Amino acid sequence: MTIPFLSLKNITAQYSKEIHGAVSRVIDSGWYLQGKENAAFEANYAQYTGTKYAVGVANGLDALIWILRAYMEMGVIDPYDEVIVPANTYIASILAITENNLVPVLVEPNITTYQIDDARIEAAITPKTKAIMIVHLYGRCAYTEKIGQVCKKRNLKLIEDNAQAHGCLYKDRKTGSLGDAAGHSFYPGKNLGALGDGGAVTTDDEELANVVRSLANYGSSRKYVFKYQGRNSRLDEIQAAVLDVKLKHLDEDNGLRRSVAKRYIDGIINPKIILPVVTDWNSHVFHIFPIRTKQRDEFQKYLQDKGVQPLIHYPIPPHKQECYKEWNGLSFPVTEQIHDEELSLPISSTLRDSEIDYIISTINSFKV
Ligand SMILES: Cc1ncc(COP(=O)(O)O)c(C=O)c1O
Repeated sequence: MTIPFLSLKNITAQYSKEIHGAVSRVIDSGWYLQGKENAAFEANYAQYTGTKYAVGVANGLDALIWILRAYMEMGVIDPYDEVIVPANTYIASILAITENNLVPVLVEPNITTYQIDDARIEAAITPKTKAIMIVHLYGRCAYTEKIGQVCKKRNLKLIEDNAQAHGCLYKDRKTGSLGDAAGHSFYPGKNLGALGDGGAVTTDDEELANVVRSLANYGSSRKYVFKYQGRNSRLDEIQAAVLDVKLKHLDEDNGLRRSVAKRYIDGIINPKIILPVVTDWNSHVFHIFPIRTKQRDEFQKYLQDKGVQPLIHYPIPPHKQECYKEWNGLSFPVTEQIHDEELSLPISSTLRDSEIDYIISTINSFKV
């Protein structure tokens, strides 16, 4: 048996008819950018997340770049101000900060939740701090009351990187609506994935939404009039139409991911494997099912030899990357431990029962 980490082909096939219908509609319309499909998806996605505005952009990295850049254009953030961000995030969260000549301040995660450790945030705040970027990593909600309170007390913007957590809840509110603005990625493998690149910004702030929309359209809100030095960073009509189809199935899809996660959590009893700790099933959409083990490399090879393809999220932490050489000597022990021990099991709405059973029994037979 070979079980791939993710089969995008199977995921797309679930909605094949609807997706083909949507794509054909756009092809036949002769209108490929900034049209009805974007308007419909933006309205539906804003409603889904519980925000006033959603602005489609080219990808998730740009969504985060534009949020910060818009705050700079609005005079809320100045060059070289600091933005707090989890040290164990995917590199894009940090790239969005440095791309804007802002200074990322890395904060360790909590070893149980893998989310930014809210007990360490206040110590990282300086007079230069203007925002906290939380990242709902692996699909688990990173927001806590404490983070909300710190932002209020210190007058900091709360930005959510919601690339991995579409449809996730904090109590009865969706991630993407918990802070001042959120960046979303629709990279094909995400819970809400396009058939190419895509992204969005959600917010209740009308000015921010308008500035983001202009920045992603060369800095223009009126044809041939340029207020900002923007870029071309738009979501195209085909992707918007596909996303609108998949949005309708997102909750059901996340439910199937949760049921796979439940099966893993109930079935994996190998003491060498540390499973994710779930306190509230609605606050996790299992973009990733991360396990940890001290014997990560042997375990990875063992699974591969048995035909199961796991992945590591992520093998090298941001502060050890060549692109941030200046941080290479810094020490973030919790982050480094996660990067040394983490392995992601296959999880998706199309994983079959027999495959889940096989993965569980294979893991339970791992000895070394
Ligand atoms: C946490 C996180 N932030 C941002 C991004 C960037 O999204 P994109 O690949 O759409 O640029 C990703 C995904 O790749 C991500 O996982």
